[in-house]
Amino acid sequence: MSKQFDVLVIGGGPGGYVAAIRAAQLGFKVACCESNAYADPKGEPRLGGTCLNVGCIPSKALLHTSHLFEEAGHHFSTQGISVGTPAIDVPTMIGRKNAIVNQLTSGIKGLFKKNKIVLLNGHGSFVAQTGDGWQIKVGDDTVEAAQVIIATGSAARHLPGIPVDNKIICDNAGALDLDAVPEKLVIIGAGVIGLEMGSVWRRLGSEITILEALPEFLSVADVDVAREAAKVFAKQGMNIHLGVQIGEVKTSKKGVSIAYTDKDGQPQKLDADRLIVSVGRIPYTTGLNAEAVGLKLDERGRIDVDGQCRTNLPGVWAVGDVVSGPMLAHKAMEEGVMVAELMAGQAGHCNFDTVPWVIYTSPEIAWVGKTEQQLKADGVAFKVGKIPFAANGRALGMGDTSGFVKMLADAKTDRILGAHIIGANASELISECVVAMEFGAASEDLARICHAHPTLSEVVHEAALACDKRPLHF
Ligand code: FAD
Ligand code: NAI
Repeated sequence: MSKQFDVLVIGGGPGGYVAAIRAAQLGFKVACCESNAYADPKGEPRLGGTCLNVGCIPSKALLHTSHLFEEAGHHFSTQGISVGTPAIDVPTMIGRKNAIVNQLTSGIKGLFKKNKIVLLNGHGSFVAQTGDGWQIKVGDDTVEAAQVIIATGSAARHLPGIPVDNKIICDNAGALDLDAVPEKLVIIGAGVIGLEMGSVWRRLGSEITILEALPEFLSVADVDVAREAAKVFAKQGMNIHLGVQIGEVKTSKKGVSIAYTDKDGQPQKLDADRLIVSVGRIPYTTGLNAEAVGLKLDERGRIDVDGQCRTNLPGVWAVGDVVSGPMLAHKAMEEGVMVAELMAGQAGHCNFDTVPWVIYTSPEIAWVGKTEQQLKADGVAFKVGKIPFAANGRALGMGDTSGFVKMLADAKTDRILGAHIIGANASELISECVVAMEFGAASEDLARICHAHPTLSEVVHEAALACDKRPLHF
């Protein structure tokens, strides 16, 4: 007889492992199957999915090391600290990153044990509907579960004719594991990965060229933020070419040559030691056997779900990168919690309007809610409060005054509609704006809240005051 569970989660990334933990907390008998995509040397699956193994966590570890390297090399001296010319030992940096990944992925195994979640080693694949649930093949076993949560995530999109070997031509996995600082690094795609990984290797000494197909830079961000970011990144020495069309890419033992057509239609060629391809990610449903059980996918290959992550099949839910919405770990986790609570008959909920975005460049970029261009397109009348970090004492003390906070509030009701930050610690500062929006705050509400001095959060405060044209320090 096959093993029986109340809930089987397919995929142990942030969407899946969080759904499993919340379902177990709510009293369900839970199993989670994870393929060996990120297996440890013993062949045991590592939990945490893209995020912990080849995404959020390792990229932030490298961003931190490279930030310190750049500070030591270029900024310490302005504060009277001399350390000579810093050197980077790439294997040590990568080893530290790997240790963080190992610590966190095994930490999730610990959480599974604590919550009595059964970890099944193997790729999950639908077999058939049974009387009161679903039969799923996991490796050589078949298990039965009353409810199934699909959290199979996404995979890097590759381009035809550009074979990724994760040595010379890399996707996110290889980009996080280079064995030396490339002299010349070309990146295809000026999106989130391109900018973050470009920042890492630029800080460590690579000459970076980013080739982007779209004519506009960072069009997902607020127009002012994108403009400021383009200016700052250009000053840092990041060469970003927009409106290009990639042509033939040839590799040799030494490196790679990339032919492309520039924005004026002129043929160009670049030689580089390494190439990173970061042109988006695709939902991952390979081997799920979705067709056999009639699981509906949308036109972009994502699992089709309603606003509460229900698929077209009874008792089958899907969360995270494999469904619509931004491919972000925290969005996946929120959906995982929502589904577990809905399964338990609770009022699970996920507010997709207040999912924050962060790009961990320097300066950091973070936003929540609508951009100025979206509000204009929607015909919404709005007020703007915009304050530069240069007006903030803490930013001056830290030696990092780039960027600003821009708050957008409804012209009539004053409700905050969006907040956009480019500057130091934007990733942390955005949370206040998320909380405010989640509680339906007006800009006046933030303006009337006492903010500690001296902190960067005072710039958020001043931006709220500026929505009413009464900033105190600008
Ligand atoms: P995944 O994390 O992709 O996990 C899916 C898991 O399912 C995988 O472990 C896979 O092996 C497993 N699996 C797939 N199919 C099966 C099957 N049939 N059976 C068993 N197991 C299966 N997001 C942020 O919010 N912040 C960041 O800073 C950030 N940085 C990133 C940096 C990089 C370089 C990348 C690539 C991504 C980054 N992301 C970031 C995005 C984030 O990693 C994803 O949004 C998140 O991991 C999605 O979680 P998920 O659970 O939906 O899928
Ligand atoms: P992306 O969607 O952010 O950016 C891809 C870029 O490549 C776009 O600007 C696109 O126009 C461009 N592009 C597409 N095809 C191209 C082509 N043929 N030639 C040149 N340019 C082309 O995708 P990216 O950077 O791969 O990241 C994938 C996802 O991972 C992100 O969308 C995000 O959801 C997640 N992520 C999140 C991070 C964070 O939260 N800090 C960090 C890294 C990734």
